[in-house]
Amino acid sequence: MTQDPLVIFTPSGKRGRFAVGTPVLTAARKLGVDLDSVCGGRGICSKCQITPSFGEFPKHGVRVSETALSDWNAVEQRYQDKRGLLAGRRLGCQATIQGDVVIDVPPESQVHKQVVRKEATAHDITMDPATRLYYVEVPEPDMHTPTGDFERLKKALQDQWGVGEIRADLTVLNRLQSTLRKGKWALTVALFRDHTTADERLLDIWPGYFDGRLYGLAIDLGSTTIAAHLCDLRNGTVIGSAGIMNPQIRFGEDLMSRVSYAMMNPGGDREMTAEVRSALNNLAASIAKDADVDPRQIMETVFVCNPVMHHLLLGIDPVELGQAPFALATSNSLSLGVGELGIGAINPTARAYILPCIAGHVGADAAAVALSQEPYNSDDLVLIIDVGTNAEILLGNKSQVLACSSPTGPAFEGAQISSGQRAAPGAIEHVTIDPVTKEPRFQVIGSDLWSDEPGFDDIIANTGITGICGSGIIEVIAEMRMAGLMDASGLIGSAEQTGSARSIPQGRTHAYLLHDGGANGGPQITVTQADIRAIQLAKSALYAGARLLMDEMGVDTVDRVVLAGAFGAHISAKHAMVLGMIPDVPLDRVTSAGNAAGTGARIALCNISERLKIEKTVHQITKIETAIEPRFQEHFIAATAIPHSSEVFSNLGKLVTLPDVSFNTAGGDKPGTKRRRRRR
Ligand code: FES
Repeated sequence: MTQDPLVIFTPSGKRGRFAVGTPVLTAARKLGVDLDSVCGGRGICSKCQITPSFGEFPKHGVRVSETALSDWNAVEQRYQDKRGLLAGRRLGCQATIQGDVVIDVPPESQVHKQVVRKEATAHDITMDPATRLYYVEVPEPDMHTPTGDFERLKKALQDQWGVGEIRADLTVLNRLQSTLRKGKWALTVALFRDHTTADERLLDIWPGYFDGRLYGLAIDLGSTTIAAHLCDLRNGTVIGSAGIMNPQIRFGEDLMSRVSYAMMNPGGDREMTAEVRSALNNLAASIAKDADVDPRQIMETVFVCNPVMHHLLLGIDPVELGQAPFALATSNSLSLGVGELGIGAINPTARAYILPCIAGHVGADAAAVALSQEPYNSDDLVLIIDVGTNAEILLGNKSQVLACSSPTGPAFEGAQISSGQRAAPGAIEHVTIDPVTKEPRFQVIGSDLWSDEPGFDDIIANTGITGICGSGIIEVIAEMRMAGLMDASGLIGSAEQTGSARSIPQGRTHAYLLHDGGANGGPQITVTQADIRAIQLAKSALYAGARLLMDEMGVDTVDRVVLAGAFGAHISAKHAMVLGMIPDVPLDRVTSAGNAAGTGARIALCNISERLKIEKTVHQITKIETAIEPRFQEHFIAATAIPHSSEVFSNLGKLVTLPDVSFNTAGGDKPGTKRRRRRR
């Protein structure tokens, strides 16, 4: 008896025997091979493309003849004429099996394809979006067996795609009859699968076969900035990114002042909700326009945000977050229609998913950082710091993960700094100071040249030198410490004490003159004593938060440090350690993860099982509350010295020797004593 032909799929290696005449798509489905199809094998969508291989395959024990698949047919020819197929490609729903064959499924034909992440420390994303397109043919109505058009559509989806229970909003039902008739009883539907209930929701419909794409927005809603990535839901590609300032800044730069605004002004919470929603609409519209995408094809949004932003986005008064026990109105993830969030700039039936919060001060942004960095899968003990207006800090490994939030304030982002500015062309971002001459050299954003290199003035002619951005302020203060211009308590020495004319008097204190652009009509850029104090407060809060988690874990050191956040991506590890922002570890154990919260949002957008994963994981993360922990204050005061008043930074000591200088001859103010405890 002759055996049925053997079919081997690559790269999965799945194999099975199928009767002559079986379509390749059918064989793939029976074996559970990941081969895409939107039209259900009708030869319309071309998503099922495969590449057969011919010849000897000793590894698989088969010889594949040129006649192993049926001849090229009229449907394939029609597609070839209209769109073109790559050489060697066939449509899996049209080609049938005639003999033993090895069939490759190219990445673009895989539904669950992997999106390779660039960051070395992060895992790749496997595509499994919640919203997908299905082409379906619906039987025409029959007077003798009367059923509604929607009911027949549901039945057709069940029969043709095995889809379960479906719900539809009125806005879609309104268009169903005309769409069905326009498409001659065929239509394409966008179905959203709820990962908790497995229910499907009809988000949109198009007559006939819709040859378009679906998109999603991953949004990192921060206190200071709102960043969004527009992603193709088929392959995870980011096709557009944009960021804007959070307009709520006018109600207060830090989170607590926004909560206070809501407390003091009746309706203040609603005012802030309206502001942020309007900004989100503008952002969504502009990102779609720039990427040349029809906003109606944006079907999903995923939000990550801190708890106060979370409440203000949802239209919930954040007042409870301003006082112990910092109760959230809801901490679980949320799946809503965007209409409920007042977002009308995209498809009105689009869905919004909001990641779960970890606790009252540790929000969905920290959950997103955990999702992207997976400390719970780490063999070594990793400290992850997401540096922003509020720092989210996670410490953990496979056995335990702890989290806290620390009120660093906006100083690291260049705010509250006399010459501070956002990272933009013209901002000083890197600085070195000669320890002997005390003369600085620097780089500004927009120029690869250093300020003492020939050609620098020409390059910066257009932008000028306008201020210092967050990473620049870290570097210049650390360099001042290394050059002996500032002592361990943070005091800047006078010209006499430092031997540098760049130490200029300013009231009862001194400032360091980094750049004097006066001759060219530019600003005088200085680092003042108040700037140093602002950075000391921020860095002490950051270090104290990390140290509190280390206490809780019962450790004095960590194995590695990951700096996340847009600012974390640009920070110099050496300078951060000179300042004592982060615990002392070997420099090569400090890495940057870029915008890890935004990446977490993108992961949740592209793969619904990742949503389930983070929903489970947040319950296993232990939250430590810095606001009520007395040791936080002790750690904070000890951390105001640069780098630290009591802890030995031995790894740092191998790299730099910090001058033993003291400028506190007048009994100046003691760092830390003036601090008002404020949650940002
Ligand atoms: Fe749509 Fe083959 S499955 S063309």
